[in-house]
Amino acid sequence: MTPAPRPTAAEREELPEGRARVPRHVAIIMDGNGRWATARGQPRQAGHKAGIAPVRASIEHCARSGVEALTLFAFSSENWRRPQEEVTNLMSLFLEALDREVAELHANRVRLRFIGDRRSLSVRLQARMAAAEELTAANDGLKLQIAVSYGGRWDIVQACQELAKQCSAGTLRPEEIDEARVAGALQLAGLPDPDLFIRTGGEQRISNFLLWNLAYSELYFTDTLWPDFNADELQAAFEHFARRERRFGLTGAQVGGAVRA
Ligand code: IPE
Ligand code: IPE
Ligand code: MG
Repeated sequence: MTPAPRPTAAEREELPEGRARVPRHVAIIMDGNGRWATARGQPRQAGHKAGIAPVRASIEHCARSGVEALTLFAFSSENWRRPQEEVTNLMSLFLEALDREVAELHANRVRLRFIGDRRSLSVRLQARMAAAEELTAANDGLKLQIAVSYGGRWDIVQACQELAKQCSAGTLRPEEIDEARVAGALQLAGLPDPDLFIRTGGEQRISNFLLWNLAYSELYFTDTLWPDFNADELQAAFEHFARRERRFGLTGAQVGGAVRA
């Protein structure tokens, strides 16, 4: 698979101008760290370390471009099954990155939140995450979500449990459960659904990411391995997004370009 071609200069000129070109919410599966390292004869952990710079670049580019929310998949509920050494290494890397980056994110008015099953994380990491969330809670800049120990199925199950608790407490009737209530009990409650989903590393699958919220996202796949991803690549994805006609089940004539990203 080759990366999707960039639009030509002539095509770019036809893009509608203004805010509408930019996705409000971008969700990224940051994949390919291990292969990046293996290709260089290095241990997989070197790839994870090299994956931090593109995280920074993506956050900066989104903030600069006027993206409202960015959700990054850092560690899945299935990644716990990796060799213990790799899991331990990833957890230390999260801790170090948090300690190093949070002050600058805060200075740039980023609001940081974590999504996922925190109970499976170390108490130390949980405390740092909570502190970072608290510090940045009132920021009015980019809404950054990092998915750690996250699975789309887990998210739906925990939302079901939450609604079931409300039913058994008598504060909710089963027939009142609708899409809005379910969405409101999910981890991304309060945010618009991702408009653009990006996966690096060449695989074309969702791997249990945001199963509910990706229902109508535009999907963009690139062969670029995550440590090689950068602002230019992200911009290329934005430009593709801007050219897609989003129909949400209607006909092309009905939307008449009006629902164009
Ligand atoms: C993504 O890169 C990072 C995590 C899943 C933690 P991978 O570690 O999956 O890299 P590949 O896919 O093996 O190359
Ligand atoms: C998805 O990547 C999870 C993250 C990037 C955090 P994986 O590498 O775990 O996905 P699979 O195993 O190839 O589906
Ligand atoms: Mg992978």
